[in-house]
Amino acid sequence: MSETHSPAGPFSSLRLDERLRDTRLFVAQALRTFHATGSVVPSSGALARAMAEYVRRRPDPDRPLRILEAGAGTGAISRGIAAEMLPGDTLDLVEANPEFAAHVEGLLKTDAVLSRVGDSARVHAKLVNDMGTDRSYDVIVSGLPFANFTADAVREILDYYFEVLEPGGTLSFYGYLYTKEVKAVIARREDYLRQVRTSWLVQEWIDRYGIGSERVFANIPPAWVHHLRKPEKTS
Ligand SMILES: C[S@@+](CC[C@H](N)C(=O)[O-])C[C@H]1O[C@@H](n2cnc3c(N)ncnc32)[C@H](O)[C@@H]1O
Repeated sequence: MSETHSPAGPFSSLRLDERLRDTRLFVAQALRTFHATGSVVPSSGALARAMAEYVRRRPDPDRPLRILEAGAGTGAISRGIAAEMLPGDTLDLVEANPEFAAHVEGLLKTDAVLSRVGDSARVHAKLVNDMGTDRSYDVIVSGLPFANFTADAVREILDYYFEVLEPGGTLSFYGYLYTKEVKAVIARREDYLRQVRTSWLVQEWIDRYGIGSERVFANIPPAWVHHLRKPEKTS
């Protein structure tokens, strides 16, 4: 499945000063810690909408969803999720960078889209796999920059997601287009090889559990969004 999204949705309500404020904070943190931040600007509305696909496409409109977003950053994708949430849904927003976590905490009170789910959302300022396994989710949306991590670190995170995901639940994540090709030209050899090993690992998971992928060109940089489903229990 492949489809292209155009800019839309939750961002049309974002004022220019709010957009600039988010972008300034994002750029400052990206300069400080590019390894964990993984990008220089927040995701676009089009990418946020694509990442929220399985909140929108809920299997049963009468059953609330438990949603986890990993790597909320300045709330770009959180807005896309919030725009699709229905009463009763809950959202755990996990963000390892305390500056971003505090920013998103504030947005839950002040932002036009996020404040609508302020009572059903909770910010956790920690690494996602430190969240523990005492809760489970129907939908996980991950903005973590896998391409910057080792294959072992990504395996640990994907194992964690599938441990806390309900059978039949979905995981959506993204990666940037052409990063391998760009790294082949500009990165040090060991960094390029690390990224190749990570992308093989990610591709294995997509091959095993993938239910759809789409390209989103209206983002800097353009991105691939992948959706995976945890198999239903077999008796
Ligand atoms: C590429 S940015 C995405 C931010 C935002 N979701 C967006 O799309 O604009 C990745 C975010 O993941 C956070 N992060 C990185 N590793 C993490 C981890 N293990 N657990 C939780 N957050 C993490 C970073 O601090 C950063 O905010």
